[in-house]
Amino acid sequence: MKRTLGVCYYPEHWPEETWAEDARRMAELGLTWVRIGEFSWSRLEPEPGRLDWDWLDRAIETLGAAGLKVVLGTPTATPPRWMLDRHPDMLAVDAEGRPRGFGSRRHYCFSHDGYREESVRIATLMAERYGRNAHLGAWQTDNEYGCHDTVISYSAAALPAFRDWLAQHYQSVEALNRAWGNVFWSMEYRSFDEIGLPNLTVTEPNPAHAMDFRRFSSDQVLRFNAAQVAAIRRHSDRPISHNYMGKVTDFDHFALGAQMEIATWDSYPLGFLQDRVGADAERKRLYARQGDPDFQAFHHDLYRAVGQGRWWVMEQQPGPVNWAPVNTIPLPGMVRLWTWEAFAHGAEAVCYFRWRQAPFAQEQMHTGLLRPDSNEAPGFAEAAAVAAELAEAPEVDAGKASVALIFDYEASWSWAVQPQGEGCDYLLLVFDIYRALRRHGLSIDILTPTARDFEGYRLVLAPGLEMPGEGLAEAVAASGAVACFGPRTGSKTRDFSIPVPLPPALPGLDVTVARVETMGREFAVAAEGGGALVNWREELETSEPVVMSDAEGRPLLVRNDRLHYLGGWPDDALADRIAVLLATAAGLPAEPLPEGLRIRDCGGCRFVFNHAATPVTWRGETLPPAGISMGFSS
Ligand code: GAL
Repeated sequence: MKRTLGVCYYPEHWPEETWAEDARRMAELGLTWVRIGEFSWSRLEPEPGRLDWDWLDRAIETLGAAGLKVVLGTPTATPPRWMLDRHPDMLAVDAEGRPRGFGSRRHYCFSHDGYREESVRIATLMAERYGRNAHLGAWQTDNEYGCHDTVISYSAAALPAFRDWLAQHYQSVEALNRAWGNVFWSMEYRSFDEIGLPNLTVTEPNPAHAMDFRRFSSDQVLRFNAAQVAAIRRHSDRPISHNYMGKVTDFDHFALGAQMEIATWDSYPLGFLQDRVGADAERKRLYARQGDPDFQAFHHDLYRAVGQGRWWVMEQQPGPVNWAPVNTIPLPGMVRLWTWEAFAHGAEAVCYFRWRQAPFAQEQMHTGLLRPDSNEAPGFAEAAAVAAELAEAPEVDAGKASVALIFDYEASWSWAVQPQGEGCDYLLLVFDIYRALRRHGLSIDILTPTARDFEGYRLVLAPGLEMPGEGLAEAVAASGAVACFGPRTGSKTRDFSIPVPLPPALPGLDVTVARVETMGREFAVAAEGGGALVNWREELETSEPVVMSDAEGRPLLVRNDRLHYLGGWPDDALADRIAVLLATAAGLPAEPLPEGLRIRDCGGCRFVFNHAATPVTWRGETLPPAGISMGFSS
C-alpha cells in the first residue's frame, strides 16, 4: 500500500490570492491530500437558505489543479449563529442543566431532530455539488464527535427520545422497573413518561438508569452520523470517514466506524501526555517533548480496528499546540517519528494540522507547517523529509500481530458509571496492559468485543470487561491461545446488577471474586516477587493453581491450563512481570526494551523508534533521540 501525506487547510481564512501559491507549495512538499470545509458553514450559507458555493468551487478547483486530492468535511460541528434563531432549543445541555453557549463549536445536541435535518440538508447540498467532482478524494462527516464533552446532553430534546428508546428496549415499564431494581429507594415508575434524565438527582442516580442513558447517547451519535452518511451516499461514491479523538470513549466507535469506509484520528502527542495519558510527574518530565511512547500507538491500533483495516491520521501535531496545561515544543525529529510510527501501524495517510498558523481567534497559538507570515515552521522540513523517504520506501502493510487485546466501549461506560473509587478508568487499565506488552517488544492488534475468531493469535488479553458478550470466553478458550481475563470480568449483568453465580464465571476456571477493594495508587498492595496492585483489587476464591500472589500470600493471578484470571490492576512493575509470564507461556519472545525504545513489526518490516530524549543503544545499534530504524525485510 502506497503511504501518503496531507494537510488540513482553511481557504476561508486566507485571501483568495494566496490559494494558488499555497496549493503549489503543498504539492511541492509532496502532499497528496488537503482536508477542507469542516468549519465553513457561516461562509457556505451566510443567511438561512442563501448558499454561496462560488468560493468553495474555486478553492477546490485551485487545490485540484495543483494535483491535490480534497477531503471535504461537512460543516456540522459549527452551526452558524442564525441556526439558533431557527432552533433555539438545539443547544446541548450539561449535567447541571445549563445550555452550552454559542461562540466556539460543537454546541448542538445530537437528539435535536431539527438540527439533524439541517445537517442532512447541508450534507445533501454539498454531496449534490461535489459528490462527483474529479478532485474529491474522500469525505469527512462533522468533526471529532465527542470533543469538548459533547456526547452526553441533558436537553429537552433528549428526554422524549430517551423515553422512546427505553420503551423500545423494555416494552413494559414493569420490565424496566425489574431490570433496574427500582424497588430500591421507591424509584418505581408507572409509565415511561415518568422517567427523567439521570442528572440533577440528589445523590447518585440508579447506575442502571445512567448506563442506559450512556447507551442511548451513543446511539444518538450513530443516528446523527448515519443520516449524513446516507445523504452523501445518494450523490457520491467516494469513501467516507470521520476523525476520532484520543481517549474519547463516549460513543461506540466500532459501531460508528462500521457505517463508513475509513476511520481517522487526530494525534496530538504532547498535548495528550499532559492532559489525558494518566502519566505521573516523572513520565511527563521524561517525555515532555516526545509524547508518551505508547499512547499514539495504542490509538493507531484501536482505530485500525474501528476502520476495519482502513485508517488515517487526519490531524498530526506539527509543533506546539495551544490547549494543554503546558504546550512544549517537540524535540527535533519527533514530527517525522510520529508520522512514520503511524505508517508502521498501517496508516494509509498522515495529514498535518494545519497548513498555516492562524493569527486570529481561538487557535492563534497553535502551530502549523507554516508560520503566520508564511515562512516555514520547523515541522515543514520534517514533513518534507518523510515525503522524500516515502518516495524511496518499499510498500508495507499492517500485517497481523500475535497478540490480541480486546477493547470494549460499553466497558468504559460501565466503569465510569460505577468506578467504585478514584483512578478506576477502564481505558487507562487497558492502556497499562498495552504499555507493558510494548515495553517487551510485542506488536498488538486491538479487537472488538464481538470478535469470535482468534485464529492466529498466540496471546489474547481481555482486561476489565464487565459485561463480556455471550460466547467470548468460549471462543478464546477454543482458539488455543494463552488468554488472560480480569479484573472485573463479568462483574455486571447487562442490567447493571451483580450476577449470581458470582463473577467471573469463566468456563473451565474455578475462581470466584469474593470481595473487592479500591485503593487508588496511594494504598498499593505489594505483590510477592515485585510490583503491586493499585486502584482495584479482588479477593479470589479458587482451587486452581496460583501463579502469582500478593505479599500476604493471597492469589492475584490464577490459571487453568492456558486460561488466566487477573484479580486486580497491576502497576508497571507487576504488569511487566505478567506480560513476560503470559508471553513466555504463549511462546512469544518478550525482551525488556531500553527506556523509550519501541518496536513495531508489520507485514515484512520491523520499525524501531527511539522516543527517549537521549541516544539509546539496542542490539549494537545506537539511535539518536527521535531516531528511527527501518529494517525492511523485502
Ligand atoms: C482538534 C480539532 C481541530 C483543532 C485541533 C487543535 O481536536 O479537530 O479542529 O481544534 O484539535 O489541536
